[in-house]
Amino acid sequence: MCGIVGYLGSKEAYPILIKGLKRLEYRGYDSAGLAIHNGETIRQYKRKGKVSKLESAAENQPKEGTLGIAHTRWATHGEPNDVNSHPHTSTSGRFHIIHNGIIENFDSIKEALKKRGYSFQSDTDTEVLINLIEDIFEEGDMPLEKAVQAALNQVSGAYAIAVIDNENPDLMVVAKMGSPLVVGLDNGHFYVASDATPFVEYTKKAVYLEDGEMAVLRRNENISVFTVETDSPVEPYVHQLTLDIEQIEKGGYEHFMLKEIYEQPRSIYDSLRGRLLPEEEKIIMRGVSEYKEKFLNADRIIIVACGTSWHAGLVAEYIFEEMARIPVEVEYASEFRYRNPIINENDVVIAVSQSGETADTLAAIKLAKSKGATIFGVCNIVGSSIARESHAGTFTHAGPEIGVASTKAFTAQVAVLTLMAIKIGYERGNLPKSEYIKYLHELNRVPDMVEKVLTCNNDNLYAIAEKYAEAENALYLGRGVNFPVALEGALKLKEISYIHAEGYPAAEMKHGPIALIDENMPVVIIAQKNANYEKVVSNAQEVKARKGKIIAIISPDDTEVRRLADHTIEVEETYELLSPLLTTIPLQILSYHIAVIRGCNVDQPRNLAKSVTVE
Ligand code: G6P
Repeated sequence: MCGIVGYLGSKEAYPILIKGLKRLEYRGYDSAGLAIHNGETIRQYKRKGKVSKLESAAENQPKEGTLGIAHTRWATHGEPNDVNSHPHTSTSGRFHIIHNGIIENFDSIKEALKKRGYSFQSDTDTEVLINLIEDIFEEGDMPLEKAVQAALNQVSGAYAIAVIDNENPDLMVVAKMGSPLVVGLDNGHFYVASDATPFVEYTKKAVYLEDGEMAVLRRNENISVFTVETDSPVEPYVHQLTLDIEQIEKGGYEHFMLKEIYEQPRSIYDSLRGRLLPEEEKIIMRGVSEYKEKFLNADRIIIVACGTSWHAGLVAEYIFEEMARIPVEVEYASEFRYRNPIINENDVVIAVSQSGETADTLAAIKLAKSKGATIFGVCNIVGSSIARESHAGTFTHAGPEIGVASTKAFTAQVAVLTLMAIKIGYERGNLPKSEYIKYLHELNRVPDMVEKVLTCNNDNLYAIAEKYAEAENALYLGRGVNFPVALEGALKLKEISYIHAEGYPAAEMKHGPIALIDENMPVVIIAQKNANYEKVVSNAQEVKARKGKIIAIISPDDTEVRRLADHTIEVEETYELLSPLLTTIPLQILSYHIAVIRGCNVDQPRNLAKSVTVE
């Protein structure tokens, strides 16, 4: 994680860097820092905490200059404090670096450098890297970019770095391996960042560096890109960005999370648009069609993901197995990659990831690919590492998600995975045509149904949130395809309000969590009328018998659960397999209100980061 920003051009760097850091704060907010070259010397400011703290520290301080680098940190090596903040400086004070990633062999390099007289102020791996660069530079009498290159050839791990030199106000060297790095180009201005959001208002032209590439940015010259290992020149491919500034601003909402919750009718619609064609009785998904034979003949589908994306994978497991009758396994990417999994050429591995950069998910698909499996990516970010590492894939069109707790990305993932399952189920002959057509039409109605859930329930959910904002624990129960929704509901609450919450399959409650239930315990039950309804009613009775407080998501015509529940939230009924797209929504809003009432930072919950590019 961590976010990096850089600028080289003719404008003042400071405001560009600060604004850029704020856009990247979702990547980590343990500390922030920047270094600016004013033509004579480099000045640095850094602070523990958010970018606003850094701004206060730099207020009234000189910070002019047209070359600069900046960093927002999610701590890996060393506690979050001023000293461990980036940028880091080489022992002589000449070179400055920002770094996103982890240098794995930093310990041995540090020891060797210490013997050569280098001293270290921080506990970070990054300070080791900048001293290694200085050491090679001093020894080798070579230009900075060659010293950076030689140093990178000695390190293992992941990095996106930018390096500047006190003796040269016209140069920035950047490189990438495993962590994202993009360079925005605009006639004489270079913008460097972890993603394009820091510079989208200045330019739409961007070069995404590939792993193992580095670039030299020199004032008034064109970007030059080459490979770290072999020093071969690379012709940079200039992408035309489609991202708009409005998409990454709050647009009148108090928080990004709330905006993103309310964007879901649109983001689900966008994820289905052009693919779901009910009138033509078609689903068009190019990536799936290209690998049609693989899907139709798959022995198994393995879904790898982390966090909320893993929950989307679990929802998909129910839908794929029901519709396509292909066995599905859903794996935490971090567990999958380290347990010598059995993978065959007839397996299709689906990687689900909002960012497309999650280190464990990326490593999991690399492993599966090396064993011959077909890799299919479901990502939200075009050009991301997971999208590029996949044989084929399909994008969710949720738009940029800035709130650290994922909302619209989750429903977009579920929508796209559902679409895939319907298509593959039909083409495998498991889903009869009449069912297939029914699903196409019903899925097409989902954006409108989501809109209705959003408009009908807010006040009710706020009142419930007020009542339970001080709870210490909460239980979420669901059955079947709504069990993963219970997990996701609990995760949302825990992430942003710091209330301990657990999701459970409703029937499993009796095997443990029931012991926690007392008159103070809110129990959220997803109890819409479906195949499991009667069973869920029994589970609700068990909660009631222990005086738990029931918050139930019910169908509008429900009577039984309504009688048992302390609070009800009505959600329109749809086909059971499509219901997660609706039942998730009130759980997101409930968590949001509770977190706001508790005074928590909803968009940037403590200790979390949106894009986890470390293992
Ligand atoms: C982090 C985020 C979660 C996200 C997970 C997986 O933990 O805070 O919101 O679900 O990473 O991220 P991905 O980008 O792979 O979906």
